[in-house]
Amino acid sequence: PAVEFGLEAPFSVEYHDSIGSTNDRARELAGEGATDVVVLADEQTGSRGRLEREWTAPPGGVWLSVVTRPDIAPAQAPLYTLAISVATARAAREAGVDARIKWPNDVVVPVGDDGDYRKLSGILTEMEGETDRVEWVIVGPGINANIDADALPEGATSIREEAGDVDRRRFVQRLLESFDDHRNDLEGIVPAWRELALTLGQRVRVDRPAGEIVGEAVDVTESGALVVETDDGRVTVSVGDCEHLRPV
Ligand code: BTN
Repeated sequence: PAVEFGLEAPFSVEYHDSIGSTNDRARELAGEGATDVVVLADEQTGSRGRLEREWTAPPGGVWLSVVTRPDIAPAQAPLYTLAISVATARAAREAGVDARIKWPNDVVVPVGDDGDYRKLSGILTEMEGETDRVEWVIVGPGINANIDADALPEGATSIREEAGDVDRRRFVQRLLESFDDHRNDLEGIVPAWRELALTLGQRVRVDRPAGEIVGEAVDVTESGALVVETDDGRVTVSVGDCEHLRPV
């Protein structure tokens, strides 16, 4: 069912009270040729996380997936993930939450000054296309919005816990408008990401396909890869998972 969302950004929104996974529905729509469509749900019963991980999506959250057909190379698709993480963090900050970004795209709330955090949002990005140009990209952020602490997984937090309930319609509007601004300014995404990054300056352990490394996260490249200063020199990581370590 289409919902009028009063958006300045050119997206149409398909809303579901309950759905298996908004990313699955978005894939169906992408397969039918849709673009600039958002699938939004109050609850998901079969959420998918990154790297086959589980994700809980009870009622009260913001679970959504955006279908786009951008004129970009597959190597630029990670910028779309960074763009939606910046948009999510900005919308959460407007709701009164001290939201920051843990590389590559978790939106987190710092706990203390040692790089510790609780997770507010994760993003599942999927893409299909040729080697030189993508067919479609789906970015699927899940935001723990108006959710009680006891319904959250360990290590997670919600907007309700941090700042009280948010008007979800307004939150989604702000998120999509900000995402639209960033996708039209690909060069501005990494600078905007850097400003919100919690990871830069941290001692990190990064789990990557080529093996684990430990060092200080010193920068991100223009395509969003993390630059880590290790004992053996600088390593650039484009795909991986990162954990913040206690300072030594
Ligand atoms: C992660 O593992 O951190 C990513 C979690 C992504 C969850 C969101 S909720 C909306 C969209 N639909 C899904 O099934 N997954 C993503």
